Amino acid sequence: MKILVATEKPFAKAATDGIKKITDKAGYELVLLEKYTDVNELYTAVADVDALIVRSDKVTQEVIDAAKKLKIVVRAGAGYDNLDLKACSARGIVAMNTPGQNSNAVAELALGMMVFMARNSFQPGTGTELKGKKVGIHAYGNVGKLVAHLAKSFGMEVFAFDPFVPAAEIEKEGIHVASSIEELYNTCHYVSLHIPATPETKQSINYNLLTKMPKGGCLVNTARKEVIHETELMKALDERTDLKYITDILPDNHAEMVSKYGTRYFSTAKKMGAETAEANINAGLAAANQIVDFLTNGVTKFQVNK
Ligand code: 3PG
Repeated sequence: MKILVATEKPFAKAATDGIKKITDKAGYELVLLEKYTDVNELYTAVADVDALIVRSDKVTQEVIDAAKKLKIVVRAGAGYDNLDLKACSARGIVAMNTPGQNSNAVAELALGMMVFMARNSFQPGTGTELKGKKVGIHAYGNVGKLVAHLAKSFGMEVFAFDPFVPAAEIEKEGIHVASSIEELYNTCHYVSLHIPATPETKQSINYNLLTKMPKGGCLVNTARKEVIHETELMKALDERTDLKYITDILPDNHAEMVSKYGTRYFSTAKKMGAETAEANINAGLAAANQIVDFLTNGVTKFQVNK
């Protein structure tokens, strides 16, 4: 069996070393395609592999067509909007993610981003504290739960909105449940986004929601660019000169936003939420173990295209 790790944004060496140990033990061959710049390199590399590990790399219909022997693809991470699930299913290819494995890294970044914005983007001047401020967790999954936990330790008052999680489960953690998205944005100084990019959520964070935020409101996006309605976000930032936006996913209009909004806006240059040695190791090794479990024992836990 041949396993390919195809990562445009490579794992830390400790992670690929760990993956190799797992695949060696199972008697499989491991191939790495790291930092590729041309998708044709990916098409060539997948041609004879049985299993594929990716990060945010796009596994399109073309990739699936080129991967004649592919049986399983694992997205080493949480969001699997980069996988063409229909194309996988049509070929009987199992698609998985590794939920929870990089959540702590993302949650720590979200809190760091709040501190950064509260302190004038680390520019001279008087900032504010997170303590006593209201933070909204949108939505309460693996990352959202950890952000809520960390925010509580900062002395923040935590609210959450997640229609898929029973209210009692949220309330038992000392977190207020917002009964609607509008209520969450209306109430919270900070809103931290943790929704996946799906047809329902795409462009759902819009002018109407953002302009509901209290004075000085700050949106923190460590989720996906696609969930933001960027034109409406800019309209909100234009009209409400107190609003702030910080993101880990470079917006389409980044240059314009830098020049227009100054310290009210910040974006990382390349998504770095899961860029810690720990998260790379957790997600990478989980992906390798899931592949071995599937190829040797048919285990389909974490399959996302059932
Ligand atoms: C995820 O969905 O797990 C995160 O967005 C991390 O993505 P990355 O592997 O591209 O850093």
